[in-house]
Amino acid sequence: MPYFSEEWIQELLQKVNLVDLIGEYVTLQNKSGRWWACCPFHNEKTPSFSVTPEKGFFHCFGCGKGGNAIHFVMEQEKMTFPEACRYLADKVKLPVPDIKDDSNYEKRKQQREKIFAMNKITAQFFHKCLYEPQGKDALAYLHGRGLDDRIIKIFGMGYAPDKWDSLLNLLGKEGFTKQDMQLAGLVKINDGKCYDMFRNRVMMPIINTFSNVIGFGGRVMDDSLPKYLNSPETAAFNKSKNLYNLNMIRKQKNLKRLILVEGYMDVIAMHAYGIPECVATLGTALTQDQARLLKRYVNNVYVSYDGDGAGKKATLRALDILAREGIESRVVSIPGGQDPDEFLKQYGKDGYIKLMKASLPLMDYKFRVTAEQYDLNDSYQKEKFAKECVHLLKGVTSAMVREKYMKKLSELTGFSVNAIAQDAGAQQGQEISWKLPARETETESADLKTENCLIRLLATNPQTALKLDGKLDEGDFRHPANKKIFSYTLLCAKKGFSPTNAEILSVLQSEEDLRHATELFSMPEEVLGELKNFDDFFDDCVHRIQLGRLEADLKIANVKYESETDPEEKKALVTKISALTKEIHKLKTSF
Ligand code: CTP
Ligand code: MN
Repeated sequence: MPYFSEEWIQELLQKVNLVDLIGEYVTLQNKSGRWWACCPFHNEKTPSFSVTPEKGFFHCFGCGKGGNAIHFVMEQEKMTFPEACRYLADKVKLPVPDIKDDSNYEKRKQQREKIFAMNKITAQFFHKCLYEPQGKDALAYLHGRGLDDRIIKIFGMGYAPDKWDSLLNLLGKEGFTKQDMQLAGLVKINDGKCYDMFRNRVMMPIINTFSNVIGFGGRVMDDSLPKYLNSPETAAFNKSKNLYNLNMIRKQKNLKRLILVEGYMDVIAMHAYGIPECVATLGTALTQDQARLLKRYVNNVYVSYDGDGAGKKATLRALDILAREGIESRVVSIPGGQDPDEFLKQYGKDGYIKLMKASLPLMDYKFRVTAEQYDLNDSYQKEKFAKECVHLLKGVTSAMVREKYMKKLSELTGFSVNAIAQDAGAQQGQEISWKLPARETETESADLKTENCLIRLLATNPQTALKLDGKLDEGDFRHPANKKIFSYTLLCAKKGFSPTNAEILSVLQSEEDLRHATELFSMPEEVLGELKNFDDFFDDCVHRIQLGRLEADLKIANVKYESETDPEEKKALVTKISALTKEIHKLKTSF
């Protein structure tokens, strides 16, 4: 862990009562030693979500989600690993250690909390001003844009008075210094003069998922510029790592999709029209961090940017960023250069839902945008178009999806699927064929079973890892989770310490690794008990894993040999192949 020591995480996990923790979210029932509930992570009627408190992990036999207390909090509260650790530490009153790589942490935390406090007072003040005589025009402006008092309240909108010092005085009275206010981005200091940053603007507080006001966006009420003024980056406000409206998204249950729009006003209008699952960036283009944030909530994002030229460009960029996180995205194209807010006003929710139904998946959208740049009636241009699309297909990893779009491209251009596939293949070079030897075969899945058994044994009895020291290493295991579990248990065993299952799980992060491990750990003890001769079984596992590794290496060396053209390299491969063959023979006969 980059943040906390293993020892501290172990202590934390020991202090947390998993049944109490999970019981805050679902109703658990005890049945023969395990606790059961309907899974909070997928829809089900009969309980397949199990909690094994003495081992400190949960596992859903339905959807496969699993992990320890930290993972549970990460999933439920949409927190990162360190955030979840802090959250749990707070619950069980375990002091959070000073973090070595981040000695400024405490200082920054205090600064952040001060800014939150100032921002909260400010947001309340702005909201109040909206309903005072001085806010009359601002309120009329919002009403004029179709936003009623209910929506104004939900989004905490307000009005920053047309004065230089209203906030300055208010926060001063509350005991904050000018420097504090400046660090919060609420006032500016120029030539020794200090004045309010936001004046005569309609204000939108930006709230994070912990319900803290992290910053503000303020809009003018006429055509003057700049149209929007946003809080600067502060210790509390990182534009590239937050999204507008995420605070409300977090509270929505069973979220299936999110809609990404460009503007604050779009989010607010969508909500007003009954489409609340909507977020916006904070005055900048979408970042990778924001895509990762979205991925915590959904796997499915509709990009609904403005229908103008700039919006289209931003859409293509956003699509690539979302794809990099493995998010499935679709594009809602708004006709006539409108933005969602304007479109909703004219066509209402039904109109927008129709647009969503007609939305295009990423690749279809890219084909369409590309097609717009060429005259497909001209045979040369058509060729160029096809080439560009073939290039786009290179990024598609699924063979099925690639095939689907090759067919589509064939329909669009009249070139045969065969020709398109050849061009696409030629561009992909060797990479594809290299993947072949790694594909899972029957013997490989048998090997996986063997290593799974071994890992299950290690998890029950970590000290046995010492017996494997020098015989196996991480590389001998196929499954990434097994690699990590093996290394960690061996490390602990060498320190004379036997980690619990929950502690072992804390070295795993990905959903797939956790699913694999908790499923394995859920395997009943009896299965292991049936193994009559433990030592023999153990030796057999080790032997099979070693053999499996050598055979896989041999296979790869053979494939390489086939395609290698350089004579020197070929010679080296021959040596390697013969060495491997010898070793395999030795191992087979020794057993
Ligand atoms: N933006 C900004 N600074 C500006 C202009 C825009 O930060 N000077 C950001 C804001 O986050 C804004 C978004 O870009 O919400 C989209 O801009 P735009 O489409 O111009 O604004 P809308 O949200 O559509 O607002 P309105 O409908 O009131 O014009
Ligand atoms: Mn707009």
